[in-house]
Amino acid sequence: SGSGVSKEVTLTFNSLARVKRAGVIVFGSDTTYAPFEWIDPQTGNAIGFDVDLANLLASKIGVKVQIVTADFSGIIPALQTGKFDAIISAMTITDERKKEVDFSDPYYNSGQVIAVQSSNNSITKPEDLVGKTVGVQTGTTGEEAAKKIKGAIVKSYPDIQLALSDLEIGRIDAVINDLPVSLYYAKTHPKVKLVGSLFTTEQYGIAFRKDEPELRDAINNALKEIKSNGEYVILYKKWFGT
Ligand code: ARG
Repeated sequence: SGSGVSKEVTLTFNSLARVKRAGVIVFGSDTTYAPFEWIDPQTGNAIGFDVDLANLLASKIGVKVQIVTADFSGIIPALQTGKFDAIISAMTITDERKKEVDFSDPYYNSGQVIAVQSSNNSITKPEDLVGKTVGVQTGTTGEEAAKKIKGAIVKSYPDIQLALSDLEIGRIDAVINDLPVSLYYAKTHPKVKLVGSLFTTEQYGIAFRKDEPELRDAINNALKEIKSNGEYVILYKKWFGT
């Protein structure tokens, strides 16, 4: 042995260095979630609050953004296999997910709300959903919340727009989903309304692979910067009003 052994030299760059070298940070996102992320039918590009936020944060690091569309239910496994550098997808920070990914500091306060047909006057709270069919998106905190309601019949959809349009035509009784997204839908679809109040409190974070703290730290610094210099507020107002 000895002389015949070939030595392998592996150069590894940390996540931040890798992103800077590439000049781009690739975000995975389920782009069916207006006003956070959806595809502009005119241009075919991803747009929304999360997309603007990603661009703003990336500009602080000096890189561009690429958005890769992925199913929400498989988005964490796709991150783990290296399909993208991070996830920005209105993703709630949960203890369960923290076992698999690292989150940035929170960037948006949210929670679950019930949507029904505007003509419905019998459902105003989770307890009213006993024996009712409730649409949710697979793999979300909304699905989790709905499954906790005893007696509710939970119907899971690959994306929440399909659930909301099934609600509109009366195929299901209610939808449980993040408030800002259902509100955005109700504003443009008068047959759908929101009832009651938030019944969970949640915060969104950007998710990273666990072994890549440098990228997460850089994003957190950028987030701190835009929260203190007013840029975050401008972005928030653009999408959500006051
Ligand atoms: N906030 C919820 C969750 O984390 C729903 C997110 C769904 N996001 C999406 N882009 N479809 O489970």
